[in-house]
Amino acid sequence: MAEVHIRPLTEPALLGYKALRDAMLASHPEAFTSDADTERLRDIASYRSRLAGNGLTLFTLLALDEGRVVGALTCEREPRRKVQHIAHLVGMMVADTHRGRGIGRALLQAALERLRALPALAQVTLSVTAGNRAATGLYESAGFTRYGSLPDAIRLPDGRRLDKDLMLLRLQG
Ligand SMILES: CC(C)(COP(=O)(O)OP(=O)(O)OC[C@H]1O[C@@H](n2cnc3c(N)ncnc32)[C@H](O)[C@@H]1OP(=O)(O)O)[C@@H](O)C(=O)NCCC(=O)NCCS
Repeated sequence: MAEVHIRPLTEPALLGYKALRDAMLASHPEAFTSDADTERLRDIASYRSRLAGNGLTLFTLLALDEGRVVGALTCEREPRRKVQHIAHLVGMMVADTHRGRGIGRALLQAALERLRALPALAQVTLSVTAGNRAATGLYESAGFTRYGSLPDAIRLPDGRRLDKDLMLLRLQG
């Protein structure tokens, strides 16, 4: 883990971010809502929406191994005033070559540190495909609890229908 650094996504890293994302969507279709075939066709400019302050994105964090993007996590928040106390974590991924080395935990901790520094934020949500033990274990170990479940949340090309667990972490009372 010593050689992996957590950094905010910047314009020059968009290509590396897309490469990791495309590979992860293709190899873990059950874990993500976006589908690999559609996303692969997107041009690089469209990923600017994942830069801090663009659209819904509060920030995107990357895990970099000697400059290579090996992990990512995005945090979103809606602009509408009544829901500005809620942030959403999306797009958590660590390259298969780098799994089990604490990178997912480092991304999550760095994201939560940033969110705790924002006094207006009270809670963080995410969704995770039911049965995704690695991701669920990671989120639970950071204090997230399940507050519900969406049945038939995603449908895969092979016919599988998967539920999503909805998870929540309170940052303040
Ligand atoms: C889920 C994912 C991000 C975890 O990243 P990672 O870097 O491998 O995880 P870490 O090494 O930081 O592990 C942190 C904790 O997660 C849990 N965890 C990780 N892998 C696990 C596994 N295979 N089984 C059970 N728990 C696991 C454990 O609680 C672990 O803590 P521990 O090592 O102290 O036991 C990664 O496996 C991944 O990208 N998977 C495919 C895409 C995906 O499922 N994304 C999540 C979408 S919601």
